[in-house]
Amino acid sequence: MFDRISRWYDLLNHLLSAGQDMVWRRRGVKRLLRMGRGVFLDVATGTGDVAFEIKRQSPQSLVVGLDPAEKMLEVARKKALRKGLSVLFVRGEGERLPFKDGAFDGVAIAFGIRNVEDRRATLSEFARVLKRDGVLVILEFSKPEGLAGKVYNLYFHHILPLIGWVVSGDREAYTYLPRSVEEFPAPEQFARELMEAGFSRVLMEPYTMGICYCYTAFKEV
Ligand SMILES: C[S@@+](CC[C@H](N)C(=O)[O-])C[C@H]1O[C@@H](n2cnc3c(N)ncnc32)[C@H](O)[C@@H]1O
Repeated sequence: MFDRISRWYDLLNHLLSAGQDMVWRRRGVKRLLRMGRGVFLDVATGTGDVAFEIKRQSPQSLVVGLDPAEKMLEVARKKALRKGLSVLFVRGEGERLPFKDGAFDGVAIAFGIRNVEDRRATLSEFARVLKRDGVLVILEFSKPEGLAGKVYNLYFHHILPLIGWVVSGDREAYTYLPRSVEEFPAPEQFARELMEAGFSRVLMEPYTMGICYCYTAFKEV
């Protein structure tokens, strides 16, 4: 599905979130870099925006982006050349990370944990490839509540899929988005899943009225 929409992915991200997606990534990467420079992995990197943001905020860090969708990676590699940023993009899945234990100072995944087939295995893999004092940052959509939530839901479930369909020509991809957010656990429950996977402390921050959540998790030492 992501291979099919790779051409339109960035444009629709910025359009459908009114540019907020870039603000969320920037804030999430700040959390990831709290310990300074190092070796970082961006899982479900897609077209690479989180990986580029890490490199932008910390030029001396080593950054690897991983994703199973080859066409998304093609877009990412072209963007890296255009931006003059050196990021290594590799094909792979979160459930089976092709890296040794303790290889990374930080792992990030933005709007991707919702898409993996086996969330439990993926979270355990994140804990495995992190160093002892490593940090995991997860950005994911959530379901805002109250009146603002009602208005947003109207947009998210009815208007967004229509715009996504018209621009990308792919109906399924943009009905999948609200459906998968609906099925994703509430923030407190997801934080519990992180603890079960071997993280000792989880910070949860709502961004933009809780449309997006940033989870910062610290590996148990
Ligand atoms: C919504 S995009 C997010 C891309 C990027 N992180 C961003 O912030 O725009 C979700 C990505 O998850 C990837 N994905 C799907 N299944 C995956 C898996 N099992 N492991 C890792 N990535 C996966 C898709 O190929 C897609 O590029």
